[in-house]
Amino acid sequence: MQVCHSVHELRAFIARDPQAKVGFVPTMGNLHAGHCQLVTQAKQLAEIVVVSIFVNPLQFGANEDFGSYPRTLAADCEKLEAVGADVVFAPAVTEMYPDFDGHDLHQQVVIQPPALANDLCGASRPGHFAGVATVVAKLFHMVQPQVAVFGKKDYQQLMVIRALVRQLNFNVEIVAGETVRESSGLAMSSRNSYLTPAEKTQAAQLYQQLQSIKQALSAGQRDYANLCAQAKSELTEQGWQVDYVEIRRQTDLTLPNAGDHAWVILAAAKLGNTRLIDNCEVRA
Ligand code: PAF
Repeated sequence: MQVCHSVHELRAFIARDPQAKVGFVPTMGNLHAGHCQLVTQAKQLAEIVVVSIFVNPLQFGANEDFGSYPRTLAADCEKLEAVGADVVFAPAVTEMYPDFDGHDLHQQVVIQPPALANDLCGASRPGHFAGVATVVAKLFHMVQPQVAVFGKKDYQQLMVIRALVRQLNFNVEIVAGETVRESSGLAMSSRNSYLTPAEKTQAAQLYQQLQSIKQALSAGQRDYANLCAQAKSELTEQGWQVDYVEIRRQTDLTLPNAGDHAWVILAAAKLGNTRLIDNCEVRA
């Protein structure tokens, strides 16, 4: 497995075999079984699999965890080697953003995603999806993959990426990877490493609320607002600071009506200092 830190090295490696189908898994590192699953999926779809590890300053708000986000390159590379990644691209911030001083975004070309990006996580994290869209577009230019795999755990992100690819004519197939969970149901996430052992046990409550709503929808209940309000109040009683619990249309995350049959239940909430997100698709 090759580790590249510069765009030049990365391009040179990929150019060695111009006929090979390139698969891509973008990450911010601190890898877990969910990421490994995305790499395994990419391996089945492509001949060369590139994994990027880059904690992207553009997608963090001023009061968020950019500085403390775990950077675990050596351990990440071991995991990636074990699942058969071919190339790890781990650039420094200055390599990715040569004109960015870390503060003044006015010198930076930024991609403005569609309105979908201002809702849900975008409402409490202004600019987050513009940062994601910008870095993913840059990475697509650098890696030039034929296929890229994104986890469904970041459901809204996946939708933003699909819009980016469709609207900016990127020649890449976007494939969704299923969420990998702990045996408790807790969705695997790099941010789970912020949780204390007690919080980690408690964190499965978020998944349990999604499951309760899923059962209610499957049983024919359609009072979306009430189902979400109930989940929010139970989480709040359990000590969570809830950002949102929402039932949306699976196709475009707009608000459903009583005639819908395919939903995604999405939730974001803080446990202690850690903001967790999760979602669950339902059809009935
Ligand atoms: O999902 C992530 O880890 C990040 O948002 C991504 C897609 C790697 C962009 O920085």
